[in-house]
Amino acid sequence: MLSVSQLTLNGEPALTGVERLPLIGWKIESTRRNVLQQSWQLQCSTRADFSALVFDSGVVNSEESNNIELSEFLLQPSTRYFLRVRITDNHGESSGWSPEAPFVTGVMNCAWKGEFISAETPQDKANSKGTLLRKAFSVAAEKKVASAFVHATALGIYQLFLNGERVGTDELTPGWTSYQHHLLYQTYDVTALLNSGDNVVGAELGAGWFKGDMGFSRHRNYYGEQTALLCQLVIQYEDGSEQCVVSDLSWRSSDSARQFAEIYDGERYDATLAQPGWQRSGFNDSDWRHVSQIHWDKKTLVAQGAGTVKQIERLPVAALIVTPQGDKVLDFGQNMSGWVEFRVRGKPGDKVVLRHFEALDASGNVYLDNLRSAKQLVEYTLKGEGEEVWHPRFSWQGFRYVKVERFPGELNPNHFTAIVIHSAMEATGQFACSNPDLNQLHHNILWGLKGNFVDVPTDCPQRDERLGWTGDAQIFCRTASYLMQTRTFFAKWLTDLKHDQTPEGGVPHVIPDILTGHCDHDKFLAEGGTHSATGWADAAVINPWTMYLMYGDKRILQNQYVSMKGWVDFMRAHADNDIWRYKLQFGDWVALDAQEGSYFGATPEDLLCTAYYALSTSLLAKTAKVLGNEEDHQYYSALQTIIVERFQERFFTAKGDLTAQTQTAHIVALCFDLTPVAFRQRTADRLVALLHEHDGHLVTGFLGTPYFCHALSQNGKAKEAWALLLKDDFPSWLYQVKAGATTVWEHWDGIKPDGSMWSPDMNSFNHYAYGAVGEWLYRTVAGIEADESAPGFKHAIISPLPGGRLNWVDASYESMYGEIAVKWQAIEGKVVLSFRIPANTTATVKLQAVKEMGQSEGLEFSHSELGWSATAGSGEYRIDYLPDDSVDLTYSD
Ligand code: BGC
Repeated sequence: MLSVSQLTLNGEPALTGVERLPLIGWKIESTRRNVLQQSWQLQCSTRADFSALVFDSGVVNSEESNNIELSEFLLQPSTRYFLRVRITDNHGESSGWSPEAPFVTGVMNCAWKGEFISAETPQDKANSKGTLLRKAFSVAAEKKVASAFVHATALGIYQLFLNGERVGTDELTPGWTSYQHHLLYQTYDVTALLNSGDNVVGAELGAGWFKGDMGFSRHRNYYGEQTALLCQLVIQYEDGSEQCVVSDLSWRSSDSARQFAEIYDGERYDATLAQPGWQRSGFNDSDWRHVSQIHWDKKTLVAQGAGTVKQIERLPVAALIVTPQGDKVLDFGQNMSGWVEFRVRGKPGDKVVLRHFEALDASGNVYLDNLRSAKQLVEYTLKGEGEEVWHPRFSWQGFRYVKVERFPGELNPNHFTAIVIHSAMEATGQFACSNPDLNQLHHNILWGLKGNFVDVPTDCPQRDERLGWTGDAQIFCRTASYLMQTRTFFAKWLTDLKHDQTPEGGVPHVIPDILTGHCDHDKFLAEGGTHSATGWADAAVINPWTMYLMYGDKRILQNQYVSMKGWVDFMRAHADNDIWRYKLQFGDWVALDAQEGSYFGATPEDLLCTAYYALSTSLLAKTAKVLGNEEDHQYYSALQTIIVERFQERFFTAKGDLTAQTQTAHIVALCFDLTPVAFRQRTADRLVALLHEHDGHLVTGFLGTPYFCHALSQNGKAKEAWALLLKDDFPSWLYQVKAGATTVWEHWDGIKPDGSMWSPDMNSFNHYAYGAVGEWLYRTVAGIEADESAPGFKHAIISPLPGGRLNWVDASYESMYGEIAVKWQAIEGKVVLSFRIPANTTATVKLQAVKEMGQSEGLEFSHSELGWSATAGSGEYRIDYLPDDSVDLTYSD
């Protein structure tokens, strides 16, 4: 049986708000092995039953089933389209039509008829209050509505309502982008919300990133001084006529009951000031204010088809704690980003006051110091009528615990629920094994992603930062992309990176860049500048390349090419004889080999800078090749060769020792292919010796840690890699797990073995950076690896690494083609390996440390000095082999 189980658009199941035809892909299911597609046929229609075709590809003979670019056909604005596909395969089977994938077009060709309108005045510059805007309109009663779509965005954060109903389920829209260049708008189907006759469209606005108080130096009004709404509601009638309701000066406005809302500080909402019915018709708005028009370049507007922040899941209270100091604290048992929803009864004017925080101190008391200036405070004043249910909407909190500072009546934990919010992404990674600590580490890595992929990849979600630090996003990108489908998320953020680059190609430390020009009070940034730190700025090259590896998406490479090249050229321009270094460097940030109290690890800056210069240049050279730019490919390949030579001359002694005897220096030299072949073994041995100097512990920071296990396992030190991963005393990944962490910490010594904490200056308990070891679990332990010559897992490499005294590992990755699953088990002295390869893909299975091959039905293994290997077509396989003595496993009967 052959079928197409899912059609995707830019990797998403549906897109709402499209201005350019998306890249199309599909997943194929078959009960057979070795299935390859032979042809496809795609159709596009404006009706779900495909009775109104606007495109038919005809039968196209091709094996391609992802990243298909259709020859452009004319799209109409504000219109829903449906796509479907059917295929044939190499066994002569034909599928039926796939389930259809819908998409809705946006405001094409920037045909905006409305204006940005504001309920605020320039005097509100320092205000963080909520405002309301509304407009009554009527829908011709005698005509039938065929469809109604609304396109909207805001300067600030907005929520839209139609006839009292919330429009869509997105949160914190329009998110955070480099607004002055790139402002996203959202599109919603509101056909079902329209009334025949009287209607009201309304919106609430808040300050958000646009004009709120942001950054650790606490500035506001980065992008403007007044919030504003842009809205275009397009109603199409069945008779072919169209009606447009747009934001203009006829709208009315008022202040909302939300007296204050700020991303770091929380919200203050007075329900006694709420104006019931304001989003419905019949409400008297005669005392509401006029609105004013705000000028904003509409060329910055771009449709956001998917990837908005949403309410993802709900968690109950795990425990109600009374601290030694007598505070009442709700423990949700999980560090997260989101809101607390509560149910409450009381008198008018009674208050609920909640303070959100991450950790209890060594005595079990509320610990707020690491939040720095972020208040994370929510205050709700009761209306006093029956049960009231409320949660914030224009801010979010990073927390596990909530101190209940005020609450009328008895405190019942069942009346509180945590709502987890983050950017909506498909979960793609599963990992489980026989070691519960490792499972908890995987959980913590995943929750580090959930807590920090809130519209932009943030460093942490709780203190007065929550910024798109490029280094953090760079080192975690590959791990994140195993866990969830990050294609839309990073495509958006990389667009902002491109916009915010300096004219010379320098890359700001945070994207969107709000540090430049606002760091006078920060010693390091004021002196050292706000852009172009190695390992941070390289996100410009590494992240697009990672998207290509994981999703095979060339469009991201095309969109980012100038930006990628700009960054490499920046390094070249500032290199001295190809040894690169520039102003402020974070280096091997927060490594434990830093001097006491310092954040800067011991690995020399010029070594790290030149190492990353070589890496980014090699990825740029490969990108040029992929995009067919042979001239650039030759140029940057040659440049990379020179950088590597210079690195070797400068940082290796004639004997083959690295001049810097740090773990991180050895890791990057091995992983970035900077080590002369003759010195590889010596470098790997030395890395192991450096580990032993610390009793088997790492002392690496941001730049060394992500590659540590790879540096070992790729150089004949698999046992040492496993041992490092499984260390559970300080400092180690599992030390945090043993200490009860539910996310990954910023510092190895966030909480020290004696219970004391690292300086509150910078001590986040939800920082995903060190969670970058997650990719080693997927790529190496489970052995689900991409092949850059057939990206997006069109061809996978299956090469698991049994060990670590485990009994079993069961992992999977939902690729663009379907699920790749790998399970290994240690049974009766053998490794039993089962795996699944999706239809229309192939894999090379590579096995190492094999003493004797056993059963391998359906596969033909051959042996070389690199181990055993076989080529597998799609399907499920089960093989077994006798491992050699280097493989440390716990066997079951
Ligand atoms: C952030 C880091 C970031 C660093 C840059 C910190 O404040 O939290 O994760 O990469 O600054 O040095």
